[in-house]
Amino acid sequence: MIEVASPQIEVVADYDMLSKRAAEHILSRLTAQPEYSLLVPTGTTPEGVYALLSKEPQEKFDGLTIFNLDEYCVPTTDGGYTLLDQDDPRSYRTFMKQHLLGTLPNIKSHFPGIENAKQPGTYDEVIAAAGGIDLCLNTMGEDGHTFGFNFSDSSFDSVTRLVEVNESTKNVNAGLTGHDIPAYAVTTGLRTGMQSKEILVLVSGVRKADILKRVLQGDISEEVPATILRTHPNCKWIVDQAAASKL
Ligand code: GLP
Repeated sequence: MIEVASPQIEVVADYDMLSKRAAEHILSRLTAQPEYSLLVPTGTTPEGVYALLSKEPQEKFDGLTIFNLDEYCVPTTDGGYTLLDQDDPRSYRTFMKQHLLGTLPNIKSHFPGIENAKQPGTYDEVIAAAGGIDLCLNTMGEDGHTFGFNFSDSSFDSVTRLVEVNESTKNVNAGLTGHDIPAYAVTTGLRTGMQSKEILVLVSGVRKADILKRVLQGDISEEVPATILRTHPNCKWIVDQAAASKL
């Protein structure tokens, strides 16, 4: 039997307020504990948070280490896989440079690597060796995927590994970015993310209203991976009114 506490949900007016509250949360944690580690997402949801953090003085981030949740991959001619080139406009290394690391280059940054395709969990070992994750800033897709690209039926015990990006997410992300979306990714697992000491989940927009209801009020199951978040002892949600409109 899984113990489930009532989720801590803060409903805010809009995306700007969501970004402001999340940035304040991160900054207050960094003030209290300057040597800090964050597991972080890409996508449209965290862009506002990164924009606000980018305006802060660099010194605030001297002790910060970030670990990204995922990176796209493509197949190679010899039957293997490789990470997208870091200068590819679709790569999440490019995204992080554009949205955060370009202005705050003193942040120590890590990404999951292709070695996890052959040996799942290599990245988890790097995270553990660095002392684990203090806070995971997390988001979820319209189909309930979370902690990067853990799609429906990902095991709750999953670690960092290679996954095939599902069609619906390729379509959503192509619409959001204007790019063709690669077929594969290396993503942290659900277990990887759930080992974070604290989780802050951001959900914005009416396009997430149906899945947010299902994630918060439906059965906890691997069919909807984000439902696992309800079993974390220290998980807080910041959602805007549009996303919360069906709760
Ligand atoms: C990135 C993330 C996905 C997320 C997607 C869209 O691709 N890796 O996990 O689903 O962005 O996210 P958002 O709805 O925040 O734009």
